[in-house]
Amino acid sequence: MKVKIHTLFQYLLDTTEAEPEAIVGFSLSRSPRLGDFMDDLDPDLPLDWNQQSFRGLPALRGHVLRQAGLDGLCAPDDVLITAGAAEANYLAMMQLVQPGDEVVTETPGWPQAEVLGRAIGATMRVVERREEDGWALSIPALADAVTERTKLIFLSNPNNPTGHVLGADELREIAAIARRAGAWLVVDEVYAGLEWDGPRAPSVAGLYERGITTGSVSKALGLQGLRTGWMICRDPDLIMDAVILRENSSEIMNIMGEVIAEIALRPDRLAPAMETARAEGRANLDRLDRFVADQPGLSWVRPRAGLIGLARLTDGQHSEAFARRLLADPYRTFLLPGTAYAQPNHIRLGVGGGEEVKLEEGLARLARCLADRAFAPATDGE
Ligand SMILES: Cc1ncc(COP(=O)(O)O)c(C=O)c1O
Repeated sequence: MKVKIHTLFQYLLDTTEAEPEAIVGFSLSRSPRLGDFMDDLDPDLPLDWNQQSFRGLPALRGHVLRQAGLDGLCAPDDVLITAGAAEANYLAMMQLVQPGDEVVTETPGWPQAEVLGRAIGATMRVVERREEDGWALSIPALADAVTERTKLIFLSNPNNPTGHVLGADELREIAAIARRAGAWLVVDEVYAGLEWDGPRAPSVAGLYERGITTGSVSKALGLQGLRTGWMICRDPDLIMDAVILRENSSEIMNIMGEVIAEIALRPDRLAPAMETARAEGRANLDRLDRFVADQPGLSWVRPRAGLIGLARLTDGQHSEAFARRLLADPYRTFLLPGTAYAQPNHIRLGVGGGEEVKLEEGLARLARCLADRAFAPATDGE
């Protein structure tokens, strides 16, 4: 098995040294500082291992269930603490999918399942979310894509990159489709908690015995660098298989990630942190919505959740050429082109990151780049 690079990661690799002066593509809330946790950290903490469980700190697993609304539906042993949602997705895919199995996923969507599925030698079936439907996922199309050979369905909810949210009834329908096929259903919830016009959707681990919820402290809490996330599933064999695979890669979690995440998810910390993240996220998204409305060169479906959305370049120009031009002098502003999601005429706009990303400055530069393009002859073959 060889994992091949995806266009999204290729673009990030190509541009890491670009030193942009502003960003309009930041996908997570403003990050706390280490000092914010000092008062609750124990200086005598041994830095070898958590000394308690290969599944992760019990207190942290308890917080994970509570924040996901799974208290009483799942037990602490149904939770495995992982190196981000990315590792949780990886462990689930690698232990469940064999060459020749079918995997159903969505586009636009988080590309990890497709990258791993192809590397394993699975047959990928990709259900299209359409802009004219507000990026909704068509349940009939999903049902058509699922066969008796479907081993796993992978979705993100809220969806990265469109911010579309599947509601409780839709998730139940999808679970019923998965159940009929005997398929596993992974729902990646990294953006949960940042819903703007409706409630948080229920976590699939509580809806379906083969439902796997993945998530992390990366997005709403801005703690991506802790590399701390989780997998929740009521099937004890899956959790054990994930522990076994992890034992043969990174073995155990990093203790600082577990300890700080445990502090961050304590109810008395989580509630105010989420309130701040939601207030800042909503204000920035409102600002971005007004910006898009004012730009003749852009249109979009406002994201219903999360901090990112896809905007169409209305003159049909190619998004990667546009993103590279925006990153270069004189604009020096970063965003992710839609080519990262097989959407070549869209750009991914994001409003996370707090003051450091200089959102206003980035929007002004983006507006200039769009306007300059509108008055320039098309010379770049787009
Ligand atoms: C949908 C989705 N899943 C997983 C990840 C990886 O997140 P983590 O930092 O939790 O590994 C991301 C990060 O962008 C994401 O958007």
